[in-house]
Amino acid sequence: MESNIEQKKVIFSGIKPSGDLTLGNYLGAIKNWVSLQNEYDCYYCVVDLHAITVKQKPADLRKRTLEVLAIYIASGIDPEKNTLFIQSHVPAHSEASWLLTCNSYMGELSRMTQYKDKSQKMGESIGAGLFNYPVLMAADILLYNSDLVPVGKDQIQHLELARDIATRFNNTYSPTFTIPEGYVPKEGAKIMDLQDPSKKMSKSEENPNCYILIMDSPEVIKKKISRAVTDSIGIINYSDDQPGVKNLINIICAIKGISPQEVVSSYEGKGYADLKRDVADIIIEELTPVQERVKKLLSDKKYLEEIYRSGAQKASFAANKTLRKMQKKIGLIPK
Ligand code: TYM
Repeated sequence: MESNIEQKKVIFSGIKPSGDLTLGNYLGAIKNWVSLQNEYDCYYCVVDLHAITVKQKPADLRKRTLEVLAIYIASGIDPEKNTLFIQSHVPAHSEASWLLTCNSYMGELSRMTQYKDKSQKMGESIGAGLFNYPVLMAADILLYNSDLVPVGKDQIQHLELARDIATRFNNTYSPTFTIPEGYVPKEGAKIMDLQDPSKKMSKSEENPNCYILIMDSPEVIKKKISRAVTDSIGIINYSDDQPGVKNLINIICAIKGISPQEVVSSYEGKGYADLKRDVADIIIEELTPVQERVKKLLSDKKYLEEIYRSGAQKASFAANKTLRKMQKKIGLIPK
C-alpha cells in the first residue's frame, strides 16, 4: 500500500519544433506541464522527428529545437525534477514506432482529422511521414507507460488512437502498456486564431496577425490583440455567438486561473477596447519574464547541452526497457 503512494504516476508530452511557438502552445500545453510537475514523474520532449514530417531547413530546425527546450525551462519546468530531452536522441522512439506501425491499420490512420485536412490541401504529394505521424506519437507515449498526457484539444484524437493501439497490442500479445489518459485544460484547451476565431491558433498560419508568438515583443502583442476580430454586438459575453470575444476571455482565464463568469462580471458596462487593452497587458505580463529567461538560456548552450544529454540518458533507460519487452513479445530474438 505504502509503496503505491511513493510511486509517482508518469506524464509524457511534447511539442514539435516546426515553427515558432504560439500562445496556444503555451496555454494549451506548457502552462499545464508546469502545474503538474510536482505530482508526476514527467517526460517533456522536443519532438524533432515529428517536425520533419514537413520540410524543414536544417539550420532552422537545429535552432528551433534548442529554442523549444529553452522555452520549456524558462516557463518554469524544472530540469532537475523533470526529464527534458530531444526525441531523436532516444532511438527507441523510431524503433517502437515501426513495431507499432505493424500493429496499426491504414483505416484508422486515414480517419485522423489532421491528416485528412492536410491531405485535402496536398493531395497525392502528402508525405508518408504525415500519415504515420500518430503512430510515432503513440510510441512516444507508450514507451514510458504514461498515465497522463497533457495536451490541447486538437491532439485528443491522436491520443485516442494511442489508446486503441496500446489496447490492441496488449490483447494480441499480453499486457505491456499502460493505457494513457488525456488531460486538457479547462479554458486554454483551444486558443483560437485572432483573425478567424473558428480555427485554432496555429504557428503554420501565413498572416502573423492570426497568432501571438511566445517570443513576440510587447508592441507586437498590443498590435495583434488590438486587431483581433470581435463582432458588432458590443457587449462582453462568454458566448458561442461571440467567438472572438470568447477567445479573449479564455486567454485571460487560462493565464489568471479564473472563471469566464468572473471575467464577464468585471467588464460590466465596459467595451471591447478595454477588454483588448487588458488582454494584451496580461499576456505581456505573463510572457516578458519567460522571454528574458529564454534569451539568457540560449546564450548558454553548454547548460542546455547538459540538460538534453542527461535527459536522453534517463529517457533511454525507461524507453529501452519497454522496447525490449515489445521486441520479445513480438518474437524478435534478443541481442
Ligand atoms: P504541436 O507541436 O502541434 O502542439 C504542441 C501542444 O500545443 C497544443 N496546442 C494548442 N493548445 C491550445 N490552443 C491552441 N491553439 C494550440 N495549438 C497547439 C497541442 O494540443 C499540443 O499539446 N503531435 C503533437 C506533439 C507530440 C505529442 C507527443 C504530444 C508528439 N508526440 C506525445 C503529446 C504526447 C503536436 O503536433 O503538437
